[in-house]
Amino acid sequence: MLNIKKKDIMFTGIQPTGLLTLGNYCGTMCNWKDIQKKYECFFCIADLHALTTFSRSGSNKNSIKNNFSTAILDIAALYLSCGVDPNRSTIFVQSHVYTHSQLYWILSNFVYFGELSRMTQFKQKLSLTVNTPINLSLFCYPVLMAADILLYHTNYVLVGSDQKQHLELVQKIAHRFNSIYGNIFIVPDILILPVGNKIMALQDPTKKMSKSDKNTNNTIFLLENIHSIYLKLQRSLTDSDCSSSCIRYDILNKPGVSNLLSIFSCMTNKKISILEDEFKNCQYSIFKKKLSDVVCDTISEIQAIYFKLRQDEDYLIDVLIHGEKNALKYSINKLDDVFQILNL
Ligand code: TRP
Repeated sequence: MLNIKKKDIMFTGIQPTGLLTLGNYCGTMCNWKDIQKKYECFFCIADLHALTTFSRSGSNKNSIKNNFSTAILDIAALYLSCGVDPNRSTIFVQSHVYTHSQLYWILSNFVYFGELSRMTQFKQKLSLTVNTPINLSLFCYPVLMAADILLYHTNYVLVGSDQKQHLELVQKIAHRFNSIYGNIFIVPDILILPVGNKIMALQDPTKKMSKSDKNTNNTIFLLENIHSIYLKLQRSLTDSDCSSSCIRYDILNKPGVSNLLSIFSCMTNKKISILEDEFKNCQYSIFKKKLSDVVCDTISEIQAIYFKLRQDEDYLIDVLIHGEKNALKYSINKLDDVFQILNL
């Protein structure tokens, strides 16, 4: 019999907000193409997570084709144009695979109120909404992440550094469940890319690049006009100390240049130290010109594939239906085990 070693499983998810940024790209997406060579990968379009912050005005309604909204098809096309290969990996919509919400409820019985209320992201959101009520779902958000991940025998989870605390809680939940019922869940390792996991705002490199930043010059969107991206990079803040070696990675003293070096490194796959060498005696303006070129080239390529794919909705729907079947096939076994062990 052939003895083929099964690949480890990698799981990741992104909310289908439609407005993915260069920060999202450098944080995880730039690695998607390569990571599929090493692991069996599941890419989840986390639309249930997106419900936690959606507006109830009714403006979310958009046209639906066979259960697929335009927002979902947008994001699927973007995933594929960033290198997800549907012949190799599973790409699926979270709400289409019922096992996620079922395991979510079960796992919520294995996590404490105190643990969830200590989550930094929850506390931040709470502090921003002083006079408006806050949804329970924002509080429970990491438990749904735990369900997403633990359903798939996941060995590794690729996330940006902002999700690290959530992932540590997922590990805790898995350990807790296993310590009572035996080794039901694999406790996943957290994969955070060494460079690019926290891209900062272009005009204020001490805070994270965010899709909801009021200063539009701070953020680059993946589907933004290329000329506008170019201008934003040209205008990005560098640092005022112009010592002999200007282009060097030093987060404390040179947060602006360090951020641009991180972006450059993600775009080209070159190590930061190599880039420092390459631009040792360069002026900021030349460095920024080169950076703008590589960023614009990469994003142009992504956009070209995106707009082509986006026209073929039948293809996108096929990919997602195939993904859904595969995700269900994988996850149902784990859910069955859990139901059995809990006498449900
Ligand atoms: N919460 C993640 C984010 O906002 C998205 C996500 C949902 C996710 N489920 C996941 C990420 C499971 C990793 C694994 O970025």
